[in-house]
Amino acid sequence: MHRTHTCGELRDGHIGRRVTLAGWVNRRREHGGLVFVDLRDRYGLTQVVFDRGVSETAFDDAGRLGNEWVVAVDGVVQARIEGQANDDMPTGQVEVVADTLRILNPADTIPFEVARELNIDEVNRLKWRYLDLRRERMRRNIELRHRVAARIRDYLNERDFLDVETPILTRATPEGARDFLVPSRVHPGRFYALPQSPQQLKQILMVAGVDRYYQIARCFRDEDLRADRQLEFTQLDLEMSFVDEEDVIGLTEDLLLEIVREEAPQLSVQATPFPRMTYADAMARYGTDKPDLRFGLPLIDISDSVAESGFRVFSATVADGGRVKLIAVPAAFTRREIDDLEAFAKANGAAGLAWIAFDVGEDGNAVAPRGPIAKFLGETEVTAIRAAAGVDDLLSAHGAATLLIVAAGPTVANECLGRLRTRLGADLELIDPSVMAFCWIVDPPIVEWNEDEARWDAVHHPFTAPRAEDVDRLDDAPGTVRARAYDIVANGYEIGGGSIRMHRAELQARVFALLGIDEVQAEAEFGHLLEAFRFGAPPHGGIAWGFDRLVMLLAGESTIREVIPFPKTLTAIDLLTDAPSQVPAASLAELGIAVVEQPKTPDDSTSPSPKISQATPHAAGDTAEANASNLGQGVLP
Ligand code: AMO
Repeated sequence: MHRTHTCGELRDGHIGRRVTLAGWVNRRREHGGLVFVDLRDRYGLTQVVFDRGVSETAFDDAGRLGNEWVVAVDGVVQARIEGQANDDMPTGQVEVVADTLRILNPADTIPFEVARELNIDEVNRLKWRYLDLRRERMRRNIELRHRVAARIRDYLNERDFLDVETPILTRATPEGARDFLVPSRVHPGRFYALPQSPQQLKQILMVAGVDRYYQIARCFRDEDLRADRQLEFTQLDLEMSFVDEEDVIGLTEDLLLEIVREEAPQLSVQATPFPRMTYADAMARYGTDKPDLRFGLPLIDISDSVAESGFRVFSATVADGGRVKLIAVPAAFTRREIDDLEAFAKANGAAGLAWIAFDVGEDGNAVAPRGPIAKFLGETEVTAIRAAAGVDDLLSAHGAATLLIVAAGPTVANECLGRLRTRLGADLELIDPSVMAFCWIVDPPIVEWNEDEARWDAVHHPFTAPRAEDVDRLDDAPGTVRARAYDIVANGYEIGGGSIRMHRAELQARVFALLGIDEVQAEAEFGHLLEAFRFGAPPHGGIAWGFDRLVMLLAGESTIREVIPFPKTLTAIDLLTDAPSQVPAASLAELGIAVVEQPKTPDDSTSPSPKISQATPHAAGDTAEANASNLGQGVLP
C-alpha cells in the first residue's frame, strides 16, 4: 500500500499509530542532528522526522532529498515536543518519526518555489503549470472551481433541469465574436465552427420539449484576450420553457446567493434582492453597462448648468448635442496627479479633462474654487455645479472635493468618465474587497446603430425578444425598442447575460431583416431554427453565466487565468504545450488547406512560423493589465 493516510489527516488522536504517507518534499531542513521533511500532498503538510537513532539508512537517504522529490515514508505518529507545535498547521500538533524512506521519484531542480507564495513570473507559471498547480493558492482555486460547479449541478438537478450536451463541431452562431473554424476533411472547402455558445441548440432543445436544460459548457470566441477573457471559456448555460424574465432572474439570484453563502462565506452580498438598473441608467450614471457598485462616484450631468458657460468648451459641446459630465471626487490632487488623470482621459477618447477643486480654508469655510477653468465660470454657474455635484457634503465629510469634468459626445463622455471612475475607485481605495455587489442591468435596446458599418447591430444577440409594447416601433424607431434581456453584473464584471427569446418564426424573421439579414441569408444560416419555430416552439428564455469570471470573483482573483487550470496567455498561446503549432504539410494537404505566408514585421524576426497571433491593442481600460504582465509581449514559440 502506498499510503495509509493523506498528508493533511494526522491529529492528536493518531499518536502512537504506525502510518505510511506519500507525497512531495515541500521543504527539508536539518536541525540538532535530525532531518525534518515537510511532506505535501493535495490535502496538506505533515512534518516527518528522520533520526539516525531510529534508522541510519532512512536518515542518510533523507539527507539527499531535494524539493519536489516524490517519496513514501513509514513511521510512527508522535506528539511534537513542547514548544514545537505549529498552531497554523492542521497537522501541527504531531509529526511522523520515520523508520523507512522510499524514494519514488527524484525531481530535477525546479524552476520556481512551490512551497512559498512568491511573486513568480506568470510566463514561468504557465510554462510549468503542473508545478504552479501544486501551489496552495492554485490548489485552492481549482478546488473552489470544482465545488462551485458541483453545487450548480446539485441545485439544478434538484429542480428538474436536464444536463444535455451539445456539439463542439457545429455551425457558426452569431454571438458577436469571430468564429474558430474547423476544416472538414470529408467535405473539402467546408468548415465546422466551434460554438461561441450553445445558444441555438438550447433553444432547439426547448422545441424538443426538454423544458429545463443546463450545461456547464465550453465556448470558443476568437477575440482579443483580456484579464477576464479567454479564447475558450466556460459558461453555465441554461434555458427554460414557459417562463418570463422573473423566473430566470429569480433562479439565478437564488443560486448565486447559495454559492456565495456556501463557497465564499468570507464575502458579504451588498444588497438583496439584487438591485436592478436599466441599461440607459447604467450608462448615464456609471458610464458602463457593468458598474462596480461597491463604491459611489456617480457621473453627474451638468450640461444644463453650463449651456451658456463663459468657458467655450462647455457651451459649444452642449450646443453641438454633446454632454458635460463630471465625477466629484472626495480628494485633492497634486498637479502631477491631475496631469496623469488627464492623460488617462485623453487615452479614453476625451479631448481633455477640466477640473475644479474646492477646499476648506483655515476658518473652516469653503474658499474660492481652484483650477484653470474656474475664472471662466460665472457665479451662478459655480453655484449650480456645486449643488449638482454635492460639493458641500464632500467638504464637510472629507475636507476636499475635486470635480473632474469631461465635455464630449454622449458616448465618449460616459465611457471616459466611467473608466476614470473605475480607476479612481481602485486608486483611492474606495473598494471593500470583502463585498460582492451584484446588480441586474435590464431593458437594453434591442439594437444599436453601428456607425462604421452603417447598420443596426443586436445589443444582446439576434434571438432576444423585443418588449411586446415596443414591437410596433421595430420598423420606424428600432433604436427605441427595448429588449427582454438582462445581464447580471458583479463588482464591475458582467458575469452573465440572458433573455426571453422570440419563439415565433415571423417575429424572428422581422428582427433578422432589421439586422440586415435578408430572407435568403436567414434561410441559409438559420433555416433550421426558423423551421423549428414553425413546429411548435414553446415560449422560452434563459441565461448564461461566465463561470470563470464568477469563480475569479469568489476566489478574490483579478484575472480568470488564476481559476482556469490551463489558460492561454494574452497573446493567445498555451505556454505549456506551445499551441498553436505548425502542422505537417501532409495534414494540410489532406484538408485542402494552404498557409499563406504573412510578411514578417521587424519584431517577428525570430519567429520561423507564419504569423499565428499578434498582441492586439486593448481598450485603454485594459492596457494596465496587458502592460503589467509580460504576457502582453509577443511571446511566440
Ligand atoms: P454572452 O455572450 O453574454 O451570452 O455570454 C455569457 C457570459 O459569458 C462570459 N463570457 C466570457 N468569459 C470569458 N471569456 C470570454 N471570452 C467570454 N465571453 C463571454 C460573460 C458573459 O456574460 N448565448 C448567450 C446567453 C443567453 O442569451 O442565454 C451568451 O453567450 O460573463
